[in-house]
Amino acid sequence: MSPYVADPVYLNGQFLPLAEAGISPLDRGFLYGDGVYELIPVYSRRAFRIDEHLNRLAATLAGIKLANPLDQAGWKAVVEKLIADAPWDDQSIYLQVTRGADNKRDHAFPTTPVPATAFAFAGPLVTTPPDVRARGVSAISVADQRWARCDLKVISLLANVLARQQAVEDGCAEALLIRDGWLKEGAASNIFVVKNGVLLAPPKTQLMLPGITYDIILELAESRGLPLEIREIHETELRSADEVWMTSSTKEVLAITQIDGQPVGNGQPGPVGEQMWQWYQDFKQSVMRKG
Ligand code: PDD
Repeated sequence: MSPYVADPVYLNGQFLPLAEAGISPLDRGFLYGDGVYELIPVYSRRAFRIDEHLNRLAATLAGIKLANPLDQAGWKAVVEKLIADAPWDDQSIYLQVTRGADNKRDHAFPTTPVPATAFAFAGPLVTTPPDVRARGVSAISVADQRWARCDLKVISLLANVLARQQAVEDGCAEALLIRDGWLKEGAASNIFVVKNGVLLAPPKTQLMLPGITYDIILELAESRGLPLEIREIHETELRSADEVWMTSSTKEVLAITQIDGQPVGNGQPGPVGEQMWQWYQDFKQSVMRKG
């Protein structure tokens, strides 16, 4: 077994060892990046916000005109078996669906329908070490070179991959994607800004992934009375922010304390982000205690 992938994995209706899971080289996910994915965090063997993740999967499938191979109950059964068979209590469940393999290479969809390829596996949940969280992380800013449907969680991630690699080569944890002067999100995270005690969040448009964590942050801000403005954030506001955070299913709420070598605010994680991190932990605990 790979230390990052538990056995068994799920492939097209079967549970089998990773080493025995094979797909055709003509799979359209391989040839065209023609597919979608989800990543669901699992805490104490409980899938977190699974309905929201499965709803986003369904919305992305509809957005690329691919029939969902499983209904909500079917996906839940797959996820539950993967969780039960994996050796870790905290996990990340990866789901991927592609448009399957035709007998030829053609950009247009197969004329005779072929079955979708559905793949899923459990891995360990890789979280941020406490000392890194306490210090915050550095980021670079880059031009957003993605396509115009960033709201769809598709596997064609080359622009995100190149942006994140640039960050890594520059010794940073994330790349902030700027389109025409406006902050959209990170290469694999949503980005929030705090200025004068007000939380600023870019709106959900076709140029940003609607993060499941992003929604939780907005819910927490609203329910706890934190001043919140959902609006476009200009690059100049990003650079003069008091706090900047990245959020995702694996990063949760993580302070960005340096952008392009310049400190954010005083260069330390700020009080609003610390508060939000605590609220997020409390919320997770309250959800896990239920049921
Ligand atoms: N990425 N924006 C982008 C471009 C992302 O890839 C992600 C998550 C997010 C945050 O979404 P969520 O809160 O639902 O995790 C925002 C996942 C973790 C990944 O690609 O592995």
